[in-house]
This record gives sequence, structure tokens and C-alpha cells, in this order.
Amino acid sequence: MTPTLAEKIAGAPKAELHIHIEGSLEPEVIFALAKRNGVKLSYESIEALKRAYAFTDLQSFLDIYYAGASVLLTEEDFYTMTAAYVERALADNVAHAEIFFDPQTHTERGVAISTAVAGIERALAEGEQRGLTSKLILCFLRHLSEADALATYEAALPLFDTYAHRLIGVGLDSSERGHPPSKFERVFAKARARGLKLVAHAGEEGPPAYIHEALDLLKVDRVDHGVRSIEDPALVARLADSRVALTVCPLSNIKLRVFDDMKQHTLKQLLAQGVAVTVNSDDPAYFGGYVNANYFATAEALELSEQEIYTILRNGFEASFVSPAERQSLIDKLDAYWGQSNPPPH
Ligand code: HPA
Ligand code: ZN
Repeated sequence: MTPTLAEKIAGAPKAELHIHIEGSLEPEVIFALAKRNGVKLSYESIEALKRAYAFTDLQSFLDIYYAGASVLLTEEDFYTMTAAYVERALADNVAHAEIFFDPQTHTERGVAISTAVAGIERALAEGEQRGLTSKLILCFLRHLSEADALATYEAALPLFDTYAHRLIGVGLDSSERGHPPSKFERVFAKARARGLKLVAHAGEEGPPAYIHEALDLLKVDRVDHGVRSIEDPALVARLADSRVALTVCPLSNIKLRVFDDMKQHTLKQLLAQGVAVTVNSDDPAYFGGYVNANYFATAEALELSEQEIYTILRNGFEASFVSPAERQSLIDKLDAYWGQSNPPPH
């Protein structure tokens, strides 16, 4: 990748549609919040914590991710975390972000969902003033029971009213294997009846059958990850025809050993087959970079063309849960930028 193409990517207005806000907690912030709250971590220093970021699969990451999130207790903590993400997103020229949070990680420690949402909302409202629009998506932890997800949904109901401008959907994350989307069919049906947007992690470590289930049973509007769809040609064709987007997270896939290295990543093949692929950071504090770093690593390893990068950037806005007018305005911004900022001739 030429330096000018990297610069062009860096400056482009972009969407980020797959970011777990708890995965934006940098080690320094984890330690600062642990100190502020008197929470004892099982890592003696920032360096010791960073050394533990040598993941072998999704579960090995999740164990540390939940330990990191254990420092979040007060509304101010959720604000601090989200404000730091807003800074990073603005620095990467993210114009619109759709952010996941995991309420069950916090309620099991006695932290109310409303505490988490209030702190996140305060930082996102400030972000709006600075040019970052955003939505919030409540994710159910799939390693917990359906009953737990239903109780979480019921407890969150008032928040879907109070924060209707921000909290617009539900998702499904955590340990995928052995926890198929079908386990959560009823809670997703309730969310759908209420008009909420629906997403689910599927086909990250789990088989293509889980992507079919997410589409057929949960009726999701987008699939998070979905990279294992490549193993099922009929599914790839279905995704391409329906334009149900995949929120792909390339650095995450390498760190969690979904692919051996970035050159093996199937994003370019999916794109070539007409799938609406987007690029996102997942858990940027743990996986080595925010959204621009994900674009750089992918563009370089897969030798993506300017046209392919434009398509991915545009897919991000096309797949966003914004109004048609907002979508058009975001695409107009991208087009104005992309057309005008051709790399200078050498
Ligand atoms: N997969 C599943 N659950 C998650 C992830 C992920 O990549 N990140 C945070 N929770
Ligand atoms: Zn994720």
C-alpha cells in the first residue's frame, strides 16, 4: 500500500458498526479505574496485563475482557470509557458509530443497566457535538441462559423509551460455540415486535449453520463477523442477494486465530462475490488497533484497490441504522472526499 493510499483511508469519513465499548478499555484506563474504585485485579501491573493479551481463541480473550470490564462501577466510569473511545473514533475520522455494550457483565456485579447507559450516553452526546453521530446496541451474552437474556430485555425496556434516539437495537455476543442463535429466538422475537434493530455475532468461530439461524430464526438486519460464510457457497450467494451486511473485524480475526495471518483473510473474496462487507475494530484495546488500523492492515495484506476500499467505506454507511436522509448525507460526504483526494501524481 502506498503511503498516499493510507493517508487517503485515514482521512476518509467512515462508519464503525462493530465495536464493543468494553473492548475499548485500554490497559492504562483499566488500572486507573481499578484504583479509583478499589477493585483488585489479578494482574499486578499494566505490563503484566498486556502480557496476558496473547490469545489462542475467542474464549481465551473473553476471560480477560470480562476481567477488564470488572473495573466499571459508576456512571462516571462508563463516561470515562466512552469518552476515550469518542476521541479515538474522531481521530480516525469515524463519522458514525454503532456501539455494543454488554449489560449482563455489569448487572451481575450489581451495576444497573441504567447506570451504564447514562454514562455511555453522556459521552456519545458530547461526541455528537463534535461530528460523531452514534447509536447504541444492547447485546445479550450467549453463554448465559435464555431466561437471563429475557430478564435483561425486560429490565431494559424503560431505557428503550428514555434513550430512543440512541438505544436502537439488540445483539448477541460472547462464546459462540455451543450457543447457537436458536437459543435466543424468543427474546429476539420480542425485540423485533418492538421495532428494534437486530444483529448477532455468527460465523466467527461457529459454523455457517449459525449464520443461517441468525437470518432465519432471529431475522437479523446485519451479521457480526460472518466470515465463516465462505465455507457455504449458497450462503454467500444469499448474503450477496439480500445485501445483509457483514461487520468484519480483521485484526480481531487474526488475534483470535480465526485466520493464521492477514493474507489468509477472506474479506476480499466475500467482497468479490458481492457480499456487503464492512471493516470494524471489535475490541480495539485488545486487538492492536482502532478502525483505521484495521483498514490499513487489510488493504496492505490483501492488496485492496482504491475501488475496493471505497466500496467497503460505502458499505459501512449503507448498512448503518440511520434515516435515509442521514445516510445520504454521510455518503455525500464520503463521495466528496473520495473524489477530491486522489493521491498526487509522482
Ligand atoms: N466475539 C464474541 N463476543 C465478543 C467479542 C467477539 O469478537 N468481543 C466482545 N465480545
Ligand atoms: Zn464482536
